[in-house]
Amino acid sequence: MSRFGGPEVLEYTEVDEPIPATSEVRVRLFAAGINPNEAYIRTGTYSFYTPELPYTPGFDGAGVVDAVGEGVKHLKIGDRVFVAALLAKRNTGTYAQKVVCDANAVHRLPESISYQQGASLGIPALTAYRALFHRAKIKPGETVLIHGASGGVGLLVVQMAKGIGATVIGTASIEEGKSLVKASGATHVLEHITEGSIDKIISLTNGKGPEVIIEFLANMNLETDLKMIAPYGRIVVVGNRGSLEINPRLAMMKEADILGMALWNASPDEYNASLHAVEAFLESGMLHPEVGDELTLEEAEKAHAQILNKKARGKMILSID
Ligand SMILES: NC(=O)c1ccc[n+]([C@@H]2O[C@H](COP(=O)([O-])OP(=O)(O)OC[C@H]3O[C@@H](n4cnc5c(N)ncnc54)[C@H](OP(=O)(O)O)[C@@H]3O)[C@@H](O)[C@H]2O)c1
Repeated sequence: MSRFGGPEVLEYTEVDEPIPATSEVRVRLFAAGINPNEAYIRTGTYSFYTPELPYTPGFDGAGVVDAVGEGVKHLKIGDRVFVAALLAKRNTGTYAQKVVCDANAVHRLPESISYQQGASLGIPALTAYRALFHRAKIKPGETVLIHGASGGVGLLVVQMAKGIGATVIGTASIEEGKSLVKASGATHVLEHITEGSIDKIISLTNGKGPEVIIEFLANMNLETDLKMIAPYGRIVVVGNRGSLEINPRLAMMKEADILGMALWNASPDEYNASLHAVEAFLESGMLHPEVGDELTLEEAEKAHAQILNKKARGKMILSID
C-alpha cells in the first residue's frame, strides 16, 4: 500500500528482502490470514493503528524459518512455524513471500497442521483465547453462546470452549457455516438470534440463559444478549460495527457484565501466555482451524473486497507461491 483507501490500494509488487536483526527471524510464508482489522487499517481511519506508508499489510501467516537473527534460541532454519505478529515490535507484513518479525511472535506448527491452517491462527486464536479466558473467565460446565460462530474467530472459540468442558451454542447464517460450527463441537447450532428467537435460547438452557455470550456484532445484538443472558452472566464484545440504544436496566436486573475486548490491549505477558496455550491446544488436537475461502497473494485486493461482507464458512486465507 502506498496510500490509504479501498481494496484497490493493495498492489502486488516487488520489495527488498527484509533482513532479521537481533531477536528477529525471517519466515518464508506459504499462507497468510486475512483479518477484518487489516481492511479497517487499509482505510487509514482505524482507531488502534495507522501505519506509515508504504506499508505491507498482514499480521498472521505460516511457513518455514529461513533466516535467524542473533540471540534466537527457540527456532532454527527449516522449522515449520506460524506467525502471530499483531503486537510484535517489528513486522514487515505477512501479505508477502517473506516476513521478518520478533522471534517471540513465531511459534512451531505441528506436522498435523497445514500451512493454510497455521495462517488461520494468529489474531483469531489469540482473540478466542482472550475472550474466553482473560475476559469471560469461563468455567467448565458453563453454557456459552457464540453469537457469530462460523467465522475465523468464532470457530476457534467453539473449539476452545468445548475443549475445556463448556456447553456451546453457536449461531451462523449459511448451511456450510452451520455445519462447521457443529463439527467444531457446538451442541446446538442456530440462526443469529433476534428478538423473535430469544425464547429458543432460554428453553435450550432450561430457562436460565447462557452464562457467557461471546458477541461478534454487538451493534445488532447487545440488547437481545442482555435479555437472554443468565443472571450474573458475562457478555464479551469482540466485534462491533456501529451503535445501538439499549436499556441499561436489563444489565442492572441481572447484574450482568458487559466486557469489552480488544487483542491490542493484551499485555506482553498475556500475549505470550496465549501463544503458548494455542501451541499446546494444537498439539493436543483440541484446535483444528477450518480454512474457508482460499485466494492467492495476487488476489489480496479481492480478499479485502470480500472479508467484511461475505457469509462466513471458516477462515479466509491467501496462499503464497
Ligand atoms: N476485539 C478484537 O480484538 C477482535 C479481534 C479479531 C476480530 N474482531 C472482530 O470480530 C469480528 C469477527 O472477526 P472474524 O475474523 O471472525 O470475521 P469473519 O471470519 O468475517 O466472521 C464474521 C462472523 O460474524 C458473524 N455475523 C454476521 N452477522 C451476524 C449477526 N447478526 N450476529 C452475530 N454474528 C454475526 C458471521 O456469521 P455468518 O457469516 O454466518 O452470518 C461470522 O461468523 C469482526 O468484526 C472483527 O473485526 C475483533
